[in-house]
Amino acid sequence: MAPLIPYVAVFVTLLVGASILISTVVTGVPTLSSGRSEVDDIVAMLEHAKLPRHALIVDLGSGWGALVIALARAFPEASVQGVEVSLFPYLVSRLRTHHLRNVSLKWGNFFRSDPSNADAIVCYLMPGVMAKLGDFLDKALKPGTFIVTNTFLFRERRPSAVRRRGLRGTVALYVCPGRH
Ligand SMILES: C[S@@+](CC[C@H](N)C(=O)[O-])C[C@H]1O[C@@H](n2cnc3c(N)ncnc32)[C@H](O)[C@@H]1O
Repeated sequence: MAPLIPYVAVFVTLLVGASILISTVVTGVPTLSSGRSEVDDIVAMLEHAKLPRHALIVDLGSGWGALVIALARAFPEASVQGVEVSLFPYLVSRLRTHHLRNVSLKWGNFFRSDPSNADAIVCYLMPGVMAKLGDFLDKALKPGTFIVTNTFLFRERRPSAVRRRGLRGTVALYVCPGRH
């Protein structure tokens, strides 16, 4: 049995790596987590937005769970949902959040989800996805829903507030519907 362990470890590593690579190629978005300063800015933006006490905050593409965890701690009376398509990050995020009662995570494509009950959407995606996401959110969200983007802004939409920290880390707040 013991001689098999290195082979099993290599096989599992290759499987996980391939799974992450395939989902990155398919979605066009890597499974990179928001950094500490970005998370702080996103939380500050949502505090500024004055969400309802029992707000529903949805992270579209919740990755390894970094942002979901920070939001659940910053807004303990809110419900925080995450949707993640990449299986391995999703499983890890389930493990990381099992003790947080205000977090729920779904495995799947957020374009097939229904975020209409959300009070706020957060996302850290890529420029290629933002136009499609904007159209999707315009149809799906109720007017007045807040959207906070990390690093990549919507084109053709004017943010209500922006915090800039250089190339990576620009956090912008939008209010739905977003087109002006
Ligand atoms: C850059 S990561 C951000 C993770 C997390 N939101 C954070 O800020 O720490 C973006 C994640 O979105 C996921 N993703 C991209 N397109 C998606 C889709 N259509 N449905 C679900 N997840 C998606 C990717 O797999 C990736 O894990």
